[in-house]
Amino acid sequence: MGHKSDWPANPAIYQVYPRSFLDTTGTGEGDLRGVIEKMGYIAELGVDALWLSPFFVSPMVDGGYDVADHSAVDPRFGTMDDFEELVAAAHDAGLKVLIDQVLNHTSDQHPLFLAAVEGDESAAECYLWQDPKEDGSLPNNWLSQFGPPAWTWNHKRRQYYFHQFLAAQPSLNLRNERVQEMHHQEIRFWRDKGVDGFRFDAVTSYLFDESLKDNPPSSPEVHEKMVTFRFVPYSYQDHVYDMLPGDGAAYAENLRKWAGEDAWLLGESTSGNNSLKLVKDFTEEGRLDAMYTVDMPEEGADPEMLGRLFDEVSDLSRYGKWMSSHDQPRHISVRGDGSDRDARFFSMMMAVLPGPWMIYQGEELGLPQPRLSREESVDPVDLIFWPDGPGRDGARVPVPWGEGPAFGFSEGSPWLPMRWESDRAVSAQTEESTLGFYRRALAARKEHGWPEGTVTGHKTKGEVMTIDLDVDGRAWRAVFNYGTDTVSPGLGAPFMASQHCVGDMLGRTAAIWKL
Ligand code: GLC
Repeated sequence: MGHKSDWPANPAIYQVYPRSFLDTTGTGEGDLRGVIEKMGYIAELGVDALWLSPFFVSPMVDGGYDVADHSAVDPRFGTMDDFEELVAAAHDAGLKVLIDQVLNHTSDQHPLFLAAVEGDESAAECYLWQDPKEDGSLPNNWLSQFGPPAWTWNHKRRQYYFHQFLAAQPSLNLRNERVQEMHHQEIRFWRDKGVDGFRFDAVTSYLFDESLKDNPPSSPEVHEKMVTFRFVPYSYQDHVYDMLPGDGAAYAENLRKWAGEDAWLLGESTSGNNSLKLVKDFTEEGRLDAMYTVDMPEEGADPEMLGRLFDEVSDLSRYGKWMSSHDQPRHISVRGDGSDRDARFFSMMMAVLPGPWMIYQGEELGLPQPRLSREESVDPVDLIFWPDGPGRDGARVPVPWGEGPAFGFSEGSPWLPMRWESDRAVSAQTEESTLGFYRRALAARKEHGWPEGTVTGHKTKGEVMTIDLDVDGRAWRAVFNYGTDTVSPGLGAPFMASQHCVGDMLGRTAAIWKL
């Protein structure tokens, strides 16, 4: 969209999960002042923007995605003054600020939900309440995305309420005018604080069909290929009634209207099926700038997935690329052996592919996925499926900055155990280590305009994928060797590679050539 003159068309965005970034108060949990303190570090990486996961008032049942006041800073993270200082510091460092907006649901401790429980009918209409069936059972077959039924009984109202995620996150009825006005005000509130864009949590879940009909079954192939979703029966259903009924994507026009033309808007698709098709729908003119889907991390950005992406999403500036987040286990362990080699392989791949790129805090250090014991775990989703769960806690183990028992993250006891190898800490990284490589990859990406490129062809042979790119009239060729055998692309020495390469490519190397 041409009107966003001061946002790069395809930003590189650094995701900060504040609770695990840097603790300046000794509580064992990170805070906003920690982000301010490390603004220079973030800017030096060479990213364009910072995405801040929720720091709003929350009982923290779902790590802050259960919001009890959407327009206030939770005291555990600091104050509104801290937030304002953070925005100013980011802008001074040349970074845009993107914050999460969790509009799909509230916490069950939100005053609106508490009022609904106490019998305030106008508040109740902001959610979805249903009487039980005659035999007391659930109103329909809808499931929550975390596995259990999407309905929880409330004894005061003697009714069930609907929640697409945890029972502690009652889903809002986004067609309700009072809810829309509340969201409009929240978005304006943060724009007035200087926020440049938003990441809309679970944007594909916003609308449900008021008929409340049972979802039909999905085809077996859909759930067979899921990684995180394979734990849950959610992918056994075709979600035709509980999400996106009619043109659910058109709802994004409200988000655009409320946020303004100049805001950069990113949507999270949690749907699993048909997700790539949704990218196009949600990013039509007047809607969001980009969407990201679970396909890339769930399928390890393998040749089949990338091929599908290139075939189905014609404009890659609409697709946010990523491999790790606070929701997914760290990719170099799930899709590799946890080595620096694999961290470089994926970062090179993300740097050369067109479109926005989201980097999750710590991946630039080559952090692997730690294993936590049941006693150490706090995430309700990990705990439901223990010990096989998705590993969201592992992905949230705090960032190692330096030495000592808490690696300079905190002077207290970290809220999740930190057992990193000492060479992963920021202080131990060098120009030659993973961090140095991320900085070079980000710099090269910007300098050569790779994010603005278009894919002109791709082919896969065995475990090697070759992608032809056109960047402003210049031809480039990227080759990704996913396997462990050495291959010879026959192109001579590459322009840039994830590991030393003179012509032959070692296993697990990504490289790019100027043709
Ligand atoms: C999004 C968030 C995730 C959260 C869920 C419900 O997927 O990224 O952390 O649990 O929404 O809010």
